[in-house]
Amino acid sequence: MCGIVGYIGDKQAAPILLDALERLEYRGYDSAGLAVRNDEGIATVVKAKGRLKILYEKVDGGRTLKGHIGIGHTRWATHGEPSEANAHPHISGSSSEDSLVVGVHNGIIENYVELKEKLVKNGYEFYSQTDTEVAVKLVDFYYSKFKSPTKALSKAMMRIRGSYSLAFLFKDHQEQIWTAKKDAPMIIGVTKDEAFIASDVPAILKYTQDIYQIGNCEMACVEAGNVHFYNIDEEEIVKDTEHITWDLDAAERGGYEHFMIKEIHEQPKALKDTYNSLVKDGSINLAKSGLTPDIIKGISEIRIVACGSAWHVGMVAKYVIEDMAKIAVQVDLASEFRYHCPVIKKDTLAIVISQSGETADSLAALREAKSKGVRTLAILNVLGSSISREADHVLYTLAGPEIAVATTKAYSAQMLICYLLSIEFAFVRSEIDSAKYQYYLQQLELLPSSVASILEDKERIQWFASKFSTIHDAFFIGRGIDYAIALEGSLKMKEVSYVHSEAYAAGELKHGTISLIEDGTLLIGILTQNRLFEKTVSNMVECKSRGAYLFAIAAAGHYNIEDIADFTIYMPNIDEHFIGSLAVIPLQLFGYYTSVIRGLDVDKPRNLAKSVTVE
Ligand code: AGP
Repeated sequence: MCGIVGYIGDKQAAPILLDALERLEYRGYDSAGLAVRNDEGIATVVKAKGRLKILYEKVDGGRTLKGHIGIGHTRWATHGEPSEANAHPHISGSSSEDSLVVGVHNGIIENYVELKEKLVKNGYEFYSQTDTEVAVKLVDFYYSKFKSPTKALSKAMMRIRGSYSLAFLFKDHQEQIWTAKKDAPMIIGVTKDEAFIASDVPAILKYTQDIYQIGNCEMACVEAGNVHFYNIDEEEIVKDTEHITWDLDAAERGGYEHFMIKEIHEQPKALKDTYNSLVKDGSINLAKSGLTPDIIKGISEIRIVACGSAWHVGMVAKYVIEDMAKIAVQVDLASEFRYHCPVIKKDTLAIVISQSGETADSLAALREAKSKGVRTLAILNVLGSSISREADHVLYTLAGPEIAVATTKAYSAQMLICYLLSIEFAFVRSEIDSAKYQYYLQQLELLPSSVASILEDKERIQWFASKFSTIHDAFFIGRGIDYAIALEGSLKMKEVSYVHSEAYAAGELKHGTISLIEDGTLLIGILTQNRLFEKTVSNMVECKSRGAYLFAIAAAGHYNIEDIADFTIYMPNIDEHFIGSLAVIPLQLFGYYTSVIRGLDVDKPRNLAKSVTVE
């Protein structure tokens, strides 16, 4: 996700745009840019790679950019790595002065490749790798044809597939900013002599608390002190304002109390965007990673290396890949892998999983794998990160910026990519037929709505957390994929609520740990795998007979679990390979609410950093 802003009014635009962008920097911070049109009608574009302060210094706080109208952008790269060329605003001509259209974009244009081909055939040249430049030139193409902003935007919206909030400066309409939107946030604020456009409330809350929400496939013509709205048929529509009561901090978190709960709720979108980036017309497309069928057929073994929650993703991936694709998978902690002189088979595929792409141990493990001559694939959330520059192949999660130290949406999106790899590997290696392939994809398409349905039940988990907020110990158990999910549930509890917890393979309890179970000990059992259900129930009963309080997370239908569990959450039934992505949601919420009830700093837990770039 990115942040876009716009201003037109009686003041200098650049300082206002910079201030607004600073309040949106949490939406993306790998590059930024401004486009301001001066009173002589000349538009100037200034862009910078890196955090906003680099742009700020480049334009001397806005003082070097004169003009009363402008747009700005802070980027979270999805297409084209962070660079000045890929930063927004993008221009339709060879320079900002001669461009008919200058624009900024938040969202993902899924069909930008086909649109780019169309534009190249019509004589357009491209300087960036972004989908946004395609959108700007598409609008230019239609504007050049029809000489009408509403017609140009309407035509573009009909052609573009994906999500977008777009803001444009048109050379021929010097006192207007035009916007178009679909499935990406955009608000507009209008005061007596000014008007503001933004991706989110924090950017303009200091100027106005009355905002317009622009709807999907709608356009707006924003002028100083005025705004007109149009639908995709170019018919003018009337809108009322909404009054925003949030304070600035709350507004930055989109009204959520913390980034962690916001990001937990962003998981359906993160899953959908990640899925759509790799699945086109019912088939998985790994082409952008360079993983070809021949490479996939030649894999002898898979080695997954990662840290923390990313390592937990690898543990889930092991079970899924081995069961589906029949490829042996080893999962190593990156900090161990890099020092234990691993024996790696020829034709091994080493997969490094990392949200930040900067974790020192994971980067070192990648280098260790490469020194052994094996092919490397990275699954990352940050374009252009260090690991992305050294891995042979890269696949990106589209979770957007993850601000909370405790990962949630990136973890879930990483898991989705591992599912897609498992399905593709299994199909290419003829371990599954096309019917099974399609079945698995259909099951994955259920994930976003299934996660959303679990989130609707969050109050029950909040209540449960309030009952157990004073505990000192918690045990998470499961078998197979459920054990891998137990690992993540335990880490969430530890890192945000400081409760000591253990995750155990349920069958392992009797080999020592069960000695720790006593009256009132909280034991969380994850039971989503049908063939292992009874086994894990037995382990839970053993603990109950020693005084444990049982919290069960089971697949819907296993209602007999309530005969032994004191508290149960049921998961919607989806294929067992993927149901772990649902079972982790209550565990994320449980850790979050326990932390909040204990009055802790949920987003920035003590002793932790979002990315551990040191050993
Ligand atoms: C997870 O909530 C923690 N923040 C931590 O375990 C994290 O997963 C680990 O440090 C790996 O980070 P990475 O994904 O950026 O490499």
